[in-house]
Amino acid sequence: MARDTTASKLPPGPTGYLFFSEHEALRDQLSLYQRIFESYGDFAKLDGLPGISWYLVARASAIEHILVTHQNRYRKPDNFNKTLALLVGSGLIVNEGESWLKQRRLMQPAFHRERLSALADCMIESTRQMLEQWHKLEDGSEVDIAAEMSNLTLTIAGKTLFGLDLRDKAELFGASLRQALGHVSEKMNNPFTYPEWLPTKENRNFKKARHNLIQVVNEIIETRRKTGGDRGDLLSMLMAAQDESSGEKMNDAQLRDEVITLLVAGHDTVAATLAWLYYLVGCNTRVQEKLQAEVKAHVNEALTLEDLPKLSYTRLVIDEALRLYPPAWGQPREAIEDDEIDGYFIPKGRIIAVSQYLAQRHPDYWKEPLKFHPERFLAEDELAKDRPKFAYFPFGGGSRMCIGNNFALMEAQIIVAMISQSFTIELASNQTIKPDPTFTLRPDGPVLVKLKKAK
Ligand code: HEM
Repeated sequence: MARDTTASKLPPGPTGYLFFSEHEALRDQLSLYQRIFESYGDFAKLDGLPGISWYLVARASAIEHILVTHQNRYRKPDNFNKTLALLVGSGLIVNEGESWLKQRRLMQPAFHRERLSALADCMIESTRQMLEQWHKLEDGSEVDIAAEMSNLTLTIAGKTLFGLDLRDKAELFGASLRQALGHVSEKMNNPFTYPEWLPTKENRNFKKARHNLIQVVNEIIETRRKTGGDRGDLLSMLMAAQDESSGEKMNDAQLRDEVITLLVAGHDTVAATLAWLYYLVGCNTRVQEKLQAEVKAHVNEALTLEDLPKLSYTRLVIDEALRLYPPAWGQPREAIEDDEIDGYFIPKGRIIAVSQYLAQRHPDYWKEPLKFHPERFLAEDELAKDRPKFAYFPFGGGSRMCIGNNFALMEAQIIVAMISQSFTIELASNQTIKPDPTFTLRPDGPVLVKLKKAK
């Protein structure tokens, strides 16, 4: 039945076109969105250029409507899918319709709890190797924890998902990934970029970065084709998977798209979470001491998978880091038919930027929202009692929810617990660290910390 949208109104928002009035500010979308949220509230209309408008939404009930209750009225926008496809081809994150469903069903079993449990030892071993290197440094040495976490999470993704040791390629892969995501993000947000075929410096750099990434991915696939056999990991499952009706296997191009998607989605997000976590914990002695006390109380010499459920405070610290600095800080949707939310008219084709970053700092849902306070998830104050589900959704929601959420949380818990066992992390002074919203929300430069051996 057609919905009656005639009575609905448009959300409030700034007058004028942002591409003219806020041209510079558009380069820093996070700050711009924050200002708009402060001035116009959690449901706002933005006009970029004549004919280009979008809504910014940080209202939990509206987010639930878009991502879950009425998700069939929305899709990921073409602009998002096509631009990200420059990097990930037709991988799960940009796939749509029947083809998406087929791939999601194929990959889901690899992320079931029992499968994930089998990966814990590998995560523990990789973290142990990083700590062994840290122990060789002089006490109090300074390191860039963002780079350390990026290398570690790429090593873990390579081994757990594809059975490959990527340690010696981690730096090149990380740098190429940042370059490529910067290009993709610019293309998504700026309608005035040059077409891909023009050999501009920017386009050439992107091609080179993509080539570096594809080389790593090709090596992963070739190595496995040579060694063969079912290793029980995701790569084996993807390679063995056959289309039920045609009996066809995934070809190398499809396989490559899924592998690069998982490497991109599965490593950078966890690395950013941990970099932010140590930015927050590194100057909060109380939280760090509680983390260390918890590990001391519950873990014998070497951490095992069985210890994880006992480390509830460690989990709260991870949840709180994900609240303040969600790596996926917003996600776009496009209305595929006219709709209405809270009395606001959503015309077919309208893009909606749903924002984790704003909802998770919304003063209606969180007491002292900017304070780093892991215990807030246990609080029973008025706000906590009535807090709607989509006030906190770092992994998205609905059918397109993150496939790797349990993988990410297990990995982060292992890494934080093992670091707490051996080191006190102290944020080096005199640093200005700002969030860089280029695709994943990550610190805009190194996060320098001092590694002090725990007593
Ligand atoms: C803290 C870490 C992570 C965060 C915050 C995160 C966040 C998200 C979010 C918000 C989405 C939904 C995007 C949308 O609906 O538009 C998503 C999708 C996805 N994530 Fe994650 N993710 C994380 C870790 C991982 C890991 C470890 C993997 C794989 C190993 C992964 C693989 C994916 C894939 C493949 C999708 C697309 C799913 C689909 O469309 O069916 N993510 N992630």
